[in-house]
Amino acid sequence: LAQTPLFQGVPPQALEIAQEAFTARFYPAGTTVFKAGDLGAALYVVQQGRVRIFRTYLDERERVFAFLGPGEVFGEMSLLDEEPRSASAEVVADSVLLVLYREAYQGLIRRYPQVAHNIAGILAKRLREADLELEVLSFEEARGRVAYALLKLYRQGFGENGRMKLTHLELAQLSGTSRETVTRVLHALKNEGLLRVTGGYVEIVDTTTLEEVLYGLR
Ligand code: CMP
Repeated sequence: LAQTPLFQGVPPQALEIAQEAFTARFYPAGTTVFKAGDLGAALYVVQQGRVRIFRTYLDERERVFAFLGPGEVFGEMSLLDEEPRSASAEVVADSVLLVLYREAYQGLIRRYPQVAHNIAGILAKRLREADLELEVLSFEEARGRVAYALLKLYRQGFGENGRMKLTHLELAQLSGTSRETVTRVLHALKNEGLLRVTGGYVEIVDTTTLEEVLYGLR
């Protein structure tokens, strides 16, 4: 819990008490935590593992909003506004999630108002990302979108030592384009020396140059 932005600025001795508000639960890989449209009364902190946040549209196409790893928080939106879940969450690796139900949350923020401030910070960060994403997805060509998705994953700490295990379909779902387009763009970026692509892994050679691609400058 000490690692999560939820408890930034909360004194370490408080963490032990805070811990009691959470219920740890194991989710085997592939389990759905909740679906978009469900009623939600809890937020989750990833203690261990990886969670995919996504939406499925009418034609069964998926848009992936994020992959979340240890320390990251999700499900706070329904907890706060009591509206249905805005997206679905599925664990993509065996995971342990810390669950915080609404009542426990209310007790927690009464005791540690800093936690509420931290949740506001998490939402502000996500809104910034969503604004940038909207800009990229509305104005950029496929090349820029794929670059955006790769940089986003990289900044989220996805993969090991900068090597990200990713299918072309996953990248397509993250960048709002087709699998065929992803294949074409990856091939081009690889030939230009911006990426290394081998055996299901993608590695960014140079983030600065890839950022130029994101903004259509290359
Ligand atoms: P909630 O609406 O309760 O359930 C779905 C959760 O997905 C939501 O809370 C957020 O925690 C998370 N979520 C929604 N949109 C995004 C996004 N664009 N990036 C990261 N997480 C998101």
